[in-house]
Amino acid sequence: MTVGTDMEGVMRAAIEAAVWAPSVNNTQPWWFGTSAYGQDGARVSLHSDSERRLDIADPDGREMLVSCGAALFTLRLAVQARGYEPRVRVLPEPDRPGLLADLVIDPAAEAEPGVGPEIERLYRQVKVRRSHRGAFEQRVVPTAVLTALREEAHREGAELFLVSDPRERRALAAFTEVAEQLQRLDPEYQAEAARWAPPPGRHRSEGMVERSYPAEEAFTSPHFATRDFAQGRPWGAREDRPPDPGITGVVAIITTRGDDRADWLAAGQGMQRMLLHASAEGLSAALHTQPLEIPELRALIRVRLCRGGHPQVLLRLGEAASALGTVRRKPDELTDEEV
Ligand SMILES: Cc1cc2nc3c(=O)[nH]c(=O)nc-3n(C[C@H](O)[C@H](O)[C@H](O)COP(=O)(O)O)c2cc1C
Repeated sequence: MTVGTDMEGVMRAAIEAAVWAPSVNNTQPWWFGTSAYGQDGARVSLHSDSERRLDIADPDGREMLVSCGAALFTLRLAVQARGYEPRVRVLPEPDRPGLLADLVIDPAAEAEPGVGPEIERLYRQVKVRRSHRGAFEQRVVPTAVLTALREEAHREGAELFLVSDPRERRALAAFTEVAEQLQRLDPEYQAEAARWAPPPGRHRSEGMVERSYPAEEAFTSPHFATRDFAQGRPWGAREDRPPDPGITGVVAIITTRGDDRADWLAAGQGMQRMLLHASAEGLSAALHTQPLEIPELRALIRVRLCRGGHPQVLLRLGEAASALGTVRRKPDELTDEEV
């Protein structure tokens, strides 16, 4: 059975949007399947690509699934932006763990009336949103915006847990520094990270290319260590930045009640929904997941700083003076026609 041209266009637009989701070390650990569904419908499936999992930093594939959750939210959003309400099944086949979700697009199932402008607003940010690495501009994030961001994460089954106590912010910054130093001491971790941070000048469509991180680390107070992508080499974007110490911004943790694969996908969906909303408000996020890659530190953060919620992503939010670059693989290379 073939797919109608309109449905072809919807599926293509959805995959073109989904590839812009954030992923740990820009590993883009996903691929997509497309097929016809019923008379005139279509089906898009999202699969993890475990060859791209960070075996040392992320042996359980938790960050891989958080990344894929972000891609899943983006797929859904793009289908809605084309006026259809997709029927989504998450982890639909237990004996196919790589199949993370499928979306059935039925031409008769139109998007709910009234959601259009909200969907459009988020959809416009898909290719604009960028991860930040450094200090933020002086600006207080309005409480109403923070409340809206918390609601966005909550709607996807995750929580955006705001850390405003200065002592707790310092503790999280210290844990990030400890994790960063432990990872710098670990040759296996370093070798894995280096595979995803190519030397400048090479054409790459994945990983941490030179223009995606600053050449010089900008310090904030408290300071959240940036990953050492260049591993001591003089690589990275050269940019004007305010004098140190700069503004840390709002510190927050995406948490979930449980900690299984469905929770990781929910965390990714909630994170992406929240990040796109933040981007529409002129805000960027800097992600610092190093302490969550060390089981002892992750457990400590869960018990002492997340009121028992499972921490999935640690981040800072604020207004960035400039945007870093990034790259993506082409949607065609990631799409397989399924029968
Ligand atoms: C689960 C997850 C963990 C991440 N951890 C970090 C991190 O510790 N440090 C960092 O600088 N960026 C982190 N990122 C951001 C990615 O590096 C970023 O999404 C990727 O390079 C693509 O760039 P973009 O977000 O600007 O599109 C993380 C992203 C995800 C989804």
